[in-house]
Amino acid sequence: MTATRENWTSRSGFIIAAIGSAVGLGNIWRFPYVAYDNGGGAFLVPYLLALITAGLPVLFLDYATGHRSHNSPPKAYRALFKGGETLGWWQVCVCLVVALYYASVLTWAGSYIYFSIGQAWGSDPESFFFNTYLQTSQASGFDLQFVSHLFWPIVGIWALTLIILYGGVKKGVELSNKIFMPLLFVLFSILVIQSLRLPGAVDGLNAFFTPDWSAMMNYKVWLAACGHTFFSLSVGFGIMVTYSSYLKPKTNLTGSGLIVGFANASTEILAGIGIFAALGFMAHAADKDVQDVVSGGIGLAFIAFPKIISSLGVGADLFGLLFFASLFVAGISSMVSILEVPIAAMQDKLKWGRCKAVSIIGGSSALVSVILFSSVNAIKLVDIIDHFINNIGIIGGALLSIIGIAWFKHSALRELRDHVNRISTLQLGKGWDFTLTVITSLILLTTLSMTIFSLLRNGYESYSMSLQGIFGWGSVLFCAVVALLLSKMKDR
Ligand code: ALA
Repeated sequence: MTATRENWTSRSGFIIAAIGSAVGLGNIWRFPYVAYDNGGGAFLVPYLLALITAGLPVLFLDYATGHRSHNSPPKAYRALFKGGETLGWWQVCVCLVVALYYASVLTWAGSYIYFSIGQAWGSDPESFFFNTYLQTSQASGFDLQFVSHLFWPIVGIWALTLIILYGGVKKGVELSNKIFMPLLFVLFSILVIQSLRLPGAVDGLNAFFTPDWSAMMNYKVWLAACGHTFFSLSVGFGIMVTYSSYLKPKTNLTGSGLIVGFANASTEILAGIGIFAALGFMAHAADKDVQDVVSGGIGLAFIAFPKIISSLGVGADLFGLLFFASLFVAGISSMVSILEVPIAAMQDKLKWGRCKAVSIIGGSSALVSVILFSSVNAIKLVDIIDHFINNIGIIGGALLSIIGIAWFKHSALRELRDHVNRISTLQLGKGWDFTLTVITSLILLTTLSMTIFSLLRNGYESYSMSLQGIFGWGSVLFCAVVALLLSKMKDR
């Protein structure tokens, strides 16, 4: 039995939830380390270009697709083109995979709120993070040895996410975002202002805002920018299709999209400002260049920030608390949105009630996530799965939606544009069709093929082939096989 489809209480409820989904670990944890690893200032220009030429056009496409059909991705794409349901299930599976590791990074953020009090990481935050806290395995292969202090926190993250999701669209997702988003705004504003007051902050900002044209000749910087934009905007993997499907029939879609896109990009750039200002402070203290002050990578937020926090002396506890609480609050609202996609898809397809869908989908995902990420391999698995699923799963999902709609069913693209224009203030012209059909497609095709080529040739980082095979390629294969199987399932 299923209830009638829920709606957001108002357009502003949707906008807050959509911002809550977009602004997440991607903005505060992922963006700074991807930017740092890709030359700091060299990253900003490709990021902004990727946002305008690919992120925003696909955001409008996702909104239009979900809103026109009032269904989650499988049925929404099915209504548009043949084979669309398989694509919808692909995006649903991508969300399932992302949710597994997203919960892990959220667990770290939650634990670090606690560690901030008294700076539990001591004088060597790097060793604390990898060895004491994560107990990272030295073995290169598959090792699921249990780490007991990672277990309860990750169980707690899943419990909190599922409690919110049991509440449904209005009383769970929307209400929690109405609490989390203002809280994030306050925490984050204080944090950025504090960072800017640190001595040396300006050196960090110079590193962040000075474009390095030579680094921009490196194609990997462009791939990273493109891969990050979609994850960060929550587009290309069904979240915005699902969220816009809960909107009332007459809603200004483009106006809402611009607000969400702007809010997301601003938070990302603000996070960059905050983190690079703090890195400038470290460089100043150590008399080094900003690019040499820490090793970058996935652990940046959990290594650089503790170092900075410890060197603050007075106010260190508060600063640490603000940073990790912002990370946590931003992440939990995105985690809810990621898991909403498979839950809504099962409700729509099999007419499951909310409680059943949350229990079955949420419960089984939680089980897999807890087993994988309370192990000594947690950080390696996060890094590998994040890389493969972002750059192949999400980019591939976005590209296939454009190919299915804009290339093979041009009339569907026109219908979507007319639909948006009937109810929105900012009108989409033929320029939108052209951008999607030619520019965005070319960017995504190039990004995807170069990523796949490079992964097949060189692999990812220095991880063992068995880990990359099982968790990297395995995640992609999982999405493909399950999507094909589920698209054969009959509707109830
Ligand atoms: N958009 C979400 C984030 O940035 C998934 O973390």
